[in-house]
Amino acid sequence: MSTAGGVSLDERPILCSLEDIPDPGAISVLVGQGPRALDVIIARRGANVIAFHNACPHQGTPLETFPGRFLDKEASHLVCSTHGARFRLDDGVCVWGPCEGDRLTSISIDVENGAVRLAAQADVQRMLDGSQPRHHNASNKLREKG
Ligand code: FES
Repeated sequence: MSTAGGVSLDERPILCSLEDIPDPGAISVLVGQGPRALDVIIARRGANVIAFHNACPHQGTPLETFPGRFLDKEASHLVCSTHGARFRLDDGVCVWGPCEGDRLTSISIDVENGAVRLAAQADVQRMLDGSQPRHHNASNKLREKG
C-alpha cells in the first residue's frame, strides 16, 4: 500500500514501487491530499501495469470494500464490490454488471527503474478539475502511510 499524498502536481510523482503490486494484483494510492486527492488503482499482471481512477462508472463508488481487494478469484478482472461489475484488467472495460460496456477512466503511467510514475500531469489535473464523483471512505484512510 502506498500513498502519494502531499505531492506537487508540478512533478510526476512516484505512485509506488513495482514491487508493491502483487503479481497478479492491484493496489490503490492517493495522489494529492485532502478532499481533492485522487484515488488511483494500479493493476499488474506480469510486465503489464495499468492504472485507473478508482471510481466505478455505474455510481462512482470506489471499487473495493476492503483495502486492496480489487480482483476476482481468477485475478482476471477488477470487481466493483458495490454491485459486482467486472472490468477487464487490460483496458478497464466493464464486461459484466450494471454498467456493461462502460469503462474505468484510464490514467497514464510509466514504469521506470522499478518505479511507477504518472506519465502526464495533465491527466491528473483534468480529473481533479472534472465533474466526476469523488468518494472518500474509511478504507482510503487505512491505505494512507504516515
Ligand atoms: S457502483 Fe459499481 S457496479 Fe454499481
